[in-house]
Amino acid sequence: MQNKNYGYPKTRMRRSRQFKWSRRLIAENNLSTNDLILPLFVMEGKNKIEPIISMPSVNRYSIDKLVDVAKIAKDLHIPLIAIFPVIDSKSKTENAEESFRNDNLICRAISAIKEKVPGIGIMADVALDPYTSHGHDGIMNGNIIENDKTIDILIKQALNQIRAGADILAPSDMMDGRVLLIRESLEENGYSDALIMSYAAKYASAFYGPFRDAIKTKSSLKGSKKTYQMDFSNANEAIREAELDIYEGADMIMVKPGLPYLDIISKIKTQLKTPTFAYQVSGEYSSLKAASINGWLDFDEIMMETLICFKRAGADGILTYSAMEIAKKLLDGYKNGS
Ligand code: PBG
Repeated sequence: MQNKNYGYPKTRMRRSRQFKWSRRLIAENNLSTNDLILPLFVMEGKNKIEPIISMPSVNRYSIDKLVDVAKIAKDLHIPLIAIFPVIDSKSKTENAEESFRNDNLICRAISAIKEKVPGIGIMADVALDPYTSHGHDGIMNGNIIENDKTIDILIKQALNQIRAGADILAPSDMMDGRVLLIRESLEENGYSDALIMSYAAKYASAFYGPFRDAIKTKSSLKGSKKTYQMDFSNANEAIREAELDIYEGADMIMVKPGLPYLDIISKIKTQLKTPTFAYQVSGEYSSLKAASINGWLDFDEIMMETLICFKRAGADGILTYSAMEIAKKLLDGYKNGS
């Protein structure tokens, strides 16, 4: 590289940037609808669509409406949806019993989509925060989140969701050992084909604010999640978390939040060579959306850019609230470089 024949003027990097076609030709990464995972919020009721104020263009849907959206997502070639339930406060308890009741909201939503929209993948979160009166992802004893007691409930929740027809379980709770114990109980109960995408490196992040509005846990949450979610100062720890989850039986892993954590995605993918996904979380979506509503950013352009940056970092796919809008644009023929 350093010999004197290399470099200007024989080498001019701008030559291949001249034309749309040549930029497309040399593009190292591309985005397709296969890379998109759509998170959706479901609530009780019928024929209901409720906008989420802090996430413009994102709604909570009753199950019948959720089915309609899942159909559109499937027609847009989005391979997977991730469903999050909004639980009525009267069903929330200290020990999250609602999470393993077999006709709870998420189970009814999963079964309805399984039946009416065959062929789209369904992912369900394994975590207790929508169901606890205190808004934490685990069972509390005083101010302590009890790891092993939480896992006992998570196992019941996981089996409940798999029985309802979930294809992928996504433990997002960050308890130690939960992937192993969920995997063992899936094996014991005859669900050896159930997929697990673990939130392996999930950071305690202020970017989750709008999501907590969406599932209405913000006001009930007491204290922070820092004793179980990771400290954003750390990178090596994320690799250990991901490695443990893979050995415990995760098929795929996820890093969350997304854009400020591209270094983590890149390191995990390079070192562990396992399907790795990024979650472009609510706060990332809402900040970009708010800026574009104000005319300060072009939403489609900025989304396309961020999503391709995830691919460049090594992500195999991205959970993004913009999945439908972006899928439409991709199917209309958008190509990066052009
Ligand atoms: C909860 C969960 C959270 C998100 C996904 N699952 C929030 C949290 O940990 O408080 C955040 C998603 C987003 O912000 O878009 N287990």
